[in-house]
Amino acid sequence: MSVTTLLTKIALERLGYVVPTARLQTEVLPKMEALAERSGYGSLSLFLQAISQMRDTHPHFVSFVDILTINETSFFRQQRQLAMIATNAQRMYQQLKRPIRIWCAACSSGEEAYSLLFLLHEKGVPCEIIGTDIHQPSLRIAKRGTGYPKYRTRNMTPTQLQRFVTVQEQTADVRLEFRDQIQFQYHNLIAHPPPRLGRLSQKQAWDLIVCRNVFIYFSAEQVCTVVRQMQGVLSEQGELWLGVNDTVQGYQSFLERKSQTGFKYFVSKLGDKVNASSISKEKDAQSKDTVWQSVSGAIQREAWQEAEQLLETLYRHPKSDKGRVLTVQGLLRLRQHDFSQAQRQLRKASIHARREPSIPYFLGVIAHKQRQGTIAKTHFTESIQRDVQFWPAQFLLGQYAYKEGQHTVCTAHLSQAKNRLHHPMSNFFQSIYPHLVESVHNNPKDVELLIEHYLSQLD
Ligand SMILES: C[S@@+](CC[C@H](N)C(=O)[O-])C[C@H]1O[C@@H](n2cnc3c(N)ncnc32)[C@H](O)[C@@H]1O
Repeated sequence: MSVTTLLTKIALERLGYVVPTARLQTEVLPKMEALAERSGYGSLSLFLQAISQMRDTHPHFVSFVDILTINETSFFRQQRQLAMIATNAQRMYQQLKRPIRIWCAACSSGEEAYSLLFLLHEKGVPCEIIGTDIHQPSLRIAKRGTGYPKYRTRNMTPTQLQRFVTVQEQTADVRLEFRDQIQFQYHNLIAHPPPRLGRLSQKQAWDLIVCRNVFIYFSAEQVCTVVRQMQGVLSEQGELWLGVNDTVQGYQSFLERKSQTGFKYFVSKLGDKVNASSISKEKDAQSKDTVWQSVSGAIQREAWQEAEQLLETLYRHPKSDKGRVLTVQGLLRLRQHDFSQAQRQLRKASIHARREPSIPYFLGVIAHKQRQGTIAKTHFTESIQRDVQFWPAQFLLGQYAYKEGQHTVCTAHLSQAKNRLHHPMSNFFQSIYPHLVESVHNNPKDVELLIEHYLSQLD
């Protein structure tokens, strides 16, 4: 694969970005080459291959994002539209009589989120705002709220300047009393579920989602997927506002487009939030599969937090396979040696997937790790009761019998395991097993050799 193709692929898969060819050639590739060299990789190709496996928080991945993203923003950017959003927030507040919850997505260094805060402050509307972005250096500025280049305040009126910021010769700071009123968080729109607000359930949490001037960089499919997710967390009267130049296709089945003095925004189609029935089953399955693929990718990159967030999205999916989601959540806990939480998740998983043999098997693995042999054996036995073909449980029971000197029992279990080694396991098991379970079972050939070894010892 050429470096251009590889770079384009990573940009699309990890950030949702479609990088225009001209920008790629004149700006992105030269900067990437310099970064690859600085980072000690022999070639750009090797660097990109490494990047594709890195977790989002890896310093090299952060630098990669830095080159690709365009973080241009300012206070009161597209101010007529912002004023319209603030007017609607005020109307919502009069109805709801509680602080208005705002998710300012892809907020760059925070100017947009602060501008909303200032506007609502002017109107006396209490609000809770979370600002998110994928670009770590911008987020650091947002959290600090100081040292903004002065020209970014160019759209503010003299009264606003006086009230909300302190201006120095070259820079401007948000006034202290406004600085800690917004939570800024790292968030990748195409990989993470929408952020939560405190302990509030994510479902229908957000009255306003403001996501401006980022979709222009995304593929049409990515925009549609992200917008679909946002719709799922809009409150009953919630509104989604995109930038004036942003477009979205394929939203008609779940969003209604509204227009106010020339500005478009979107509201959820009635009833859709509850059962998502208006998107076709096929699309639903596709989006679920895509998220499972992302889970698998995150696990391979050992991006545990990302995997957990994705699993939460899957869990809430109206047609999610809850047993599978809970099992993988349990296994992630198991990897972190949080055995009690892992057991809890797996027991819950078992309620949803009563016939799945791998769940008691994993419970057995936990008991085994905790040196509770008797309990482990009970779980492995249950696993075989669920599916007699499930050789990993037979194999471990054989090992227990071997250690306990029960040669006949051992031979029986190991022979059964050997006969079934090539029997196809459930998709459920196959999909989660290789990445998550540290054991000899990853390669049936190895297991076969081990079984032969044990059996020859018994002869
Ligand atoms: C042009 S700025 C827009 C900032 C602000 N919304 C505005 O309109 O002024 C685009 C922002 O989107 C962020 N971004 C790009 N891809 C993203 C992704 N996949 N997830 C979250 N943020 C992303 C970039 O880091 C950048 O800060």
